[in-house]
Amino acid sequence: MSKHRTARTSTGRGGRFALVVLVLAVLCGLVAAYLVYRKPSAEPRPVPAAPAREESVVVEDFSEAGLPDGWKAVEGDWKVEDGRLVGVPDGDGRPNRIVFGRHLTDFRLETTVRFAEVGGPGGAAPWVALGLDVPASGTAPWAAGLLRGGATPGFLEFARRTPGREAWDVTDKSVLPAVVGTDRDVRLAVEVRGTRARWFFDGREALRTTRVSRTADGGQALLVDGARVSFDDVRVAKVTENALLRPPGSPMAVIGHRGASSAAPENTLMSDEVARRGGAEWIENDVQPSKDGVPYVLHDPEVDRTTDGTGLIRSLTAAEVDALDAGSWFGPAYAGARVPTLAAQLDDLRKRGGNMLLEIKGRHSRAEVARIVEEVRDHGMADRVVVQSFDTEALKHTRELAPELPLGLLRAKLDPDPVAVARELGLSAYNPLATELLARPDVVKDLHAAGVAVMVWTVDDATHWSALEPLGTDGVITNRPAELSGWNAGRLHSPR
Ligand code: G3P
Ligand code: CA
Repeated sequence: MSKHRTARTSTGRGGRFALVVLVLAVLCGLVAAYLVYRKPSAEPRPVPAAPAREESVVVEDFSEAGLPDGWKAVEGDWKVEDGRLVGVPDGDGRPNRIVFGRHLTDFRLETTVRFAEVGGPGGAAPWVALGLDVPASGTAPWAAGLLRGGATPGFLEFARRTPGREAWDVTDKSVLPAVVGTDRDVRLAVEVRGTRARWFFDGREALRTTRVSRTADGGQALLVDGARVSFDDVRVAKVTENALLRPPGSPMAVIGHRGASSAAPENTLMSDEVARRGGAEWIENDVQPSKDGVPYVLHDPEVDRTTDGTGLIRSLTAAEVDALDAGSWFGPAYAGARVPTLAAQLDDLRKRGGNMLLEIKGRHSRAEVARIVEEVRDHGMADRVVVQSFDTEALKHTRELAPELPLGLLRAKLDPDPVAVARELGLSAYNPLATELLARPDVVKDLHAAGVAVMVWTVDDATHWSALEPLGTDGVITNRPAELSGWNAGRLHSPR
């Protein structure tokens, strides 16, 4: 009995022991599972999904007989044959065209093109064009991207056609990367972002413009002359991503630092013109107010280094700044250049083309920032200006006062988490010192995944351009914009 009791007693202790072991095992399992599946705090935050790049508006493969709904032939003979749209010139000297689509500010128009027969009535030179902003009536004004083929080597152009003028005003031109000839399909695309556009030939950017003339309601079109041309797979997509991100197939954006400051006196309209002619699509500047609150374009706090005057710009009246010579220090040929007001620089860019990377230089009050954004709005340049600063307060003021203006943050040191900073400030661009970015190249991928562009400063040599380009860097702020444009062009014409 005692034995039995003992045995019973022994069995009871063993059961409790087993229960304790079981509970401990379950607890250990739960702890282990937690340790395995939890995200360690040191692990980087997950990269969010990239925002959608585009939204289709027209997708047409000409699989049905007859012209698609909404397509209207204006000039020439247009028909669907063997699953392609065929445009046949009528030889009357006016561009043959078919209109379709709808008005879009930011979009991509692409199609496959084949020159079938070159020559025909009227003996016009063969060309094809993608109409970028063409009224539904098909009457001028138009903006278009032209491919002049049939010749060797041929050209790409951006051009406009104005009412009453039977000719193209060509704003930008480049040599075709390859001979098109006849009976060969080439994939052509133009991506338009407001007044900016990029021409893509077989997936690679071949030409840019900052001077697309826009209307309030023009849609898309295809145009031909001097050749029977067929088209397939026409697509129009509204591009919704951040316009500062570099599209696939595009080289890095060229941003002239203080204009073209290696070749002309910095932060002058002469410097801007040299940069523009050298291929800069953006002009970087530095903005600070005079004593009486007029925003001027000047880098240093004092006028001494870059003018014939002396003293802090904040201690000089607008009349005193206007009297300074900002060119002689650079070279006698530039004597008489002025320190431009921000208003004058905006006006110049609006008339001559180009975009502004406007740096609010140094600490600014909210009222001073308000004056800057007022100038941008008054000059109708809100869609062609990005505001950047080292000063986060200036960016916060800008965001409150002008939420339509994209913002860039300048950094001499990378933040531990640039994506978090970009989100907090509502940035479109995070703009670090190039050497900082090269030390942490993954930052580009993280920022891109969050929809934020990366524009580095200030890089003047091809060795660094070569290192920055494959990282996905969107733009380079450089004192040598013409050289960077040439470097970009050289890569376009090199083998893939
Ligand atoms: O835009 C970048 C660069 O301009 C920042 O430095 O001194 O030239 O204004 P800093
Ligand atoms: Ca600057």
